Amino acid sequence: MKVVFVTATGTDIGKTYVTAGLARSLRAHGRSVAALKPVASGFDRAAAESSDSGMLLATLGRNVTDAALADISPWRFAAPLSPDMAARRERRGIDFAALVTFCRKAIENAADALLIEGIGGIMVPLDERHTVLDWMVALRLPVLLVTGSYLGTISHTLSALDVVKRRGIDVLAIVISETSGSTAPLAETADTILRFATGTEVVTLKRHEGPVLHPELDRLARRLWP
Ligand SMILES: Nc1ncnc2c1ncn2[C@@H]1O[C@H](COP(=O)(O)OP(=O)(O)OP(=O)(O)O)[C@@H](O)[C@H]1O
Ligand SMILES: [Mg+2]
Repeated sequence: MKVVFVTATGTDIGKTYVTAGLARSLRAHGRSVAALKPVASGFDRAAAESSDSGMLLATLGRNVTDAALADISPWRFAAPLSPDMAARRERRGIDFAALVTFCRKAIENAADALLIEGIGGIMVPLDERHTVLDWMVALRLPVLLVTGSYLGTISHTLSALDVVKRRGIDVLAIVISETSGSTAPLAETADTILRFATGTEVVTLKRHEGPVLHPELDRLARRLWP
């Protein structure tokens, strides 16, 4: 059994893409996989199938029902804002201790592989005092850091890596998911990140439309869940 937390340098970078891709590979290898997206903002019940929670459920072969959504994403908010702001719009909040307990229970109950997708980037606020970084520190899980290949990603990636490492978080790999329309060359960007991120594995994912089995993600899945 191995649990991995999937975080990123920002929103819309590729966390769900990577989480679903790993889950798909693991399932293709006959592994039992669970996935959580505990906190989701910009959630629209009418379009639940295309939400992160809906896509993860579909990848796991589960139906997108209210019960299943509540099961993997207990904290869902309508506004497409940071979770603290989105929750405030609904006069709600995220109880940080409850969030950590929810994840710990899922970790305890995981039969085999468990993937937990964070939200936004590494320091998105969850409430008045806590960010995703505090959440990752509390869970003490190894993380995958998903980044893009856009111009500017090198600094964003290395800054995020430095911050998480300073908080004692184990980074299993940096996954560079090619940014649509990026003008910066993917391989050279990866080489540069690798040069500064010594000791951290760097995986590159070319853009592929549709739910393909990425050979790179498949290799990563096999390495993480041998
Ligand atoms: N390598 C890739 N090939 C093709 N499409 C990709 C790739 N990486 C990301 N995408 C697409 O880019 C969009 C954003 O990716 P994704 O939803 O995984 O980001 P995210 O980090 O999970 O965002 P959020 O912060 O909303 O959770 C999605 O439409 C996704 O399918
Ligand atoms: Mg996502």
